[in-house]
Amino acid sequence: MSTIARSQLRRVGLRTQLHVDGKPFLALGGELGNSNASDLAVLATALDKCQRMNLNTIMLPLYWDLIEPREGEFDFLLVQGSIDLARARHLRLVPLWFGTWKNSMSCYAPSWVKRDTNRFPRVHRSSGELEEIISPQSAAANEADANAFARLMRFIRDYDAATGTVIMVQVENEVGMIPEARDHSEAAEAAYRSDVPETLLTLARNGELGPEVSALWEAAGRKTAGSWGEVFGTGPAGDEVFSAWQFATYVQKVTAAGKREYALPMFTNAALIRPGYQPGQYPSAGPLPHLLEIWRAGAPSLDMICPDIYFPNFIEWCDKYDRNGNPVFIPEMAATMRASANAVFAAARYGAIGCGPFSIENVEGEKQRLISDCYAALAGLSELILIGQQEGTILGLSPKVGFDWSVDESMQAGELGGITFKAVFDRQEIGGDTQTTTLPTLGAGRWDAPPGTPHGAAMILQQSPDAFIVLGMGVKITFAPADGQGKIGIDQVQEGRFTPGGVWRGGRFLNGDETHQGRHIHLPDVSWTVQRISLYRY
Ligand code: DGJ
Repeated sequence: MSTIARSQLRRVGLRTQLHVDGKPFLALGGELGNSNASDLAVLATALDKCQRMNLNTIMLPLYWDLIEPREGEFDFLLVQGSIDLARARHLRLVPLWFGTWKNSMSCYAPSWVKRDTNRFPRVHRSSGELEEIISPQSAAANEADANAFARLMRFIRDYDAATGTVIMVQVENEVGMIPEARDHSEAAEAAYRSDVPETLLTLARNGELGPEVSALWEAAGRKTAGSWGEVFGTGPAGDEVFSAWQFATYVQKVTAAGKREYALPMFTNAALIRPGYQPGQYPSAGPLPHLLEIWRAGAPSLDMICPDIYFPNFIEWCDKYDRNGNPVFIPEMAATMRASANAVFAAARYGAIGCGPFSIENVEGEKQRLISDCYAALAGLSELILIGQQEGTILGLSPKVGFDWSVDESMQAGELGGITFKAVFDRQEIGGDTQTTTLPTLGAGRWDAPPGTPHGAAMILQQSPDAFIVLGMGVKITFAPADGQGKIGIDQVQEGRFTPGGVWRGGRFLNGDETHQGRHIHLPDVSWTVQRISLYRY
């Protein structure tokens, strides 16, 4: 049976957006912790909190081991219960298929898969040591995973298509090869010695492999035929290309099997790379930006390739994924003091479909307040934001934060409607959590913003030649004509808010000290606020 999904990705104007029930949709998301969707009572409490925090979309894991505890026997009660709980709270769901791989490992494979290492072989290191990673070379595992995923999508179609609570699906979770860039099992070695598929060779000849992989091909002598080592080089970087193809083609079979049952938008997500790490040192060959073209060629059924951004240099990673028409969606990101600012900036600058601070149900205190306030403001502005994304009438301004939390001191500026908007961000006295991290996959590094880091950002929406709506926190904005002719003055500034239905409720008219006597607008650092401004040229 083929059922038309109620959500699709559609290109409108400048951006590819998620459309739900025929209308563009901005996902005000959060991702649940790994285990809280395995017990409906715990899940209910978590979703209550998400609802209180003004989320409209929840990324939640669905577990292969619990769905198919014995081969061919499926149990969808947990899936059904999750959909019911979300639906009752008017939340949309983006299930995460914890299938063959979760953060490289195969910990969510069912017992009958885990225990049968002959039928479902593991990755071998070059030393022969085994990893708890099912080999992407395993056709049996690929078939079993694809079959389970197809059954899941069939269930979701039958149970949910009429209502459309489930709006997208993530296939696998952070696949990656570690601690070596490729599998050295016998079957994988044979595949590595075989010829590189014509699809990739054609991309190579056409210069369509992306700059990083093209450079490997060039360095190996621009070969138009040969084994993986011959075509991409025998070092770890070439090994990674081979593994990326193995992973991508495996994920393709799973995705295509699911889509045949119910064609919701589907994506996969990547664990990112610390500065200076080489293939093998990080979860290699995942859907990383330098491998985007390999993944797209190997897994054409995926609609998006997505980053999980836990590192502080959020902008740098978004820039890398805003590549080659790939829509920007951030299913997971660190729920730091900057999470809400990053969500605002991503929607404005990258036309992002949405963001998901991780372990959202455990976010508390100041961070909880910032995300809740931000999502309330974004909900009221959604329609205008989505139009702005389509028409290019939206501008994002954010401090640039480095991997080490250093903040670029230079003025952040952007142009909209012939006006240059220049932003200076307030630095916050308080920092985020001081512990390096409670999340094992993050490794060493400061988890949250240190004191002195700005927590804010700004989004500017043009409504007419001289009227703009500004959403922001902790930012002062000045204005100048983009063509350098004359000056721009502030005519009027009104604070206010948009109701969840998008209706403007105006409040005080800000002037005098609040605009530094007409020199700038200031959106205070205490929370997310909205101002409607009109400007004039003199
Ligand atoms: C990234 C993974 O995708 C999540 O499931 C979770 O494990 C986080 N890392 C935090 O450790």
